[in-house]
Amino acid sequence: MSTESAARTGTITIEQVDAATTYPLRAQELRQGRPLEIDEDDAPYTLHLAARVDGGEVVGVVRFHPRDCPWREGEGSWQLRGMATDPRVRGLGAGRALVAAGLTRVAARGGQLVWCDARASAVGFYERIGFSTVTEEYDLRPVGPHRGMLIELPIR
Ligand SMILES: CC(C)(COP(=O)(O)OP(=O)(O)OC[C@H]1O[C@@H](n2cnc3c(N)ncnc32)[C@H](O)[C@@H]1OP(=O)(O)O)[C@@H](O)C(=O)NCCC(=O)NCCS
Repeated sequence: MSTESAARTGTITIEQVDAATTYPLRAQELRQGRPLEIDEDDAPYTLHLAARVDGGEVVGVVRFHPRDCPWREGEGSWQLRGMATDPRVRGLGAGRALVAAGLTRVAARGGQLVWCDARASAVGFYERIGFSTVTEEYDLRPVGPHRGMLIELPIR
């Protein structure tokens, strides 16, 4: 069965993984021509998650690590980075499941807020899953326009 068919009929599971497991999808969807590694990827406190279809191929990745929020003062802020799903499974809930699992784990570690530099093309996704847009558009090279977004924890 193709990955796309499996994603439509199968179960998407989320698991914690090491950084290297997320690199192929990062390379394909996010970091073309740029180094795959992001600062603190291998730090013990950095949380990497992967989505698999029926326990098989990795079809989504994301990472979370503690970092002050540029737009809100206070402790307990974590940054979301490296978010991507395989184009063959988009719109099927893998992205939502990844972020939801991450927010639960971050909250369990005492996190009170998760923020991200959201690509303009992904702002609708983050809004759909509960994030708020808190900035005007700004340019982050070499990718392009972004907006600051955040969600407070725990989710009620
Ligand atoms: C953005 C991305 C992670 C979304 O992943 P996904 O697997 O399609 O997300 P889901 O299927 O869980 O979508 C959840 C909801 O958001 C909606 N949605 C998904 N992408 C959207 C977008 N770009 N704009 C608006 N809504 C979107 C879905 O339709 C779905 O809506 P529903 O609640 O009605 O079902 C994926 O498109 C992607 O990897 N894009 C390329 C890389 C990228 O831009 N990453 C983000 C960097 S900041």
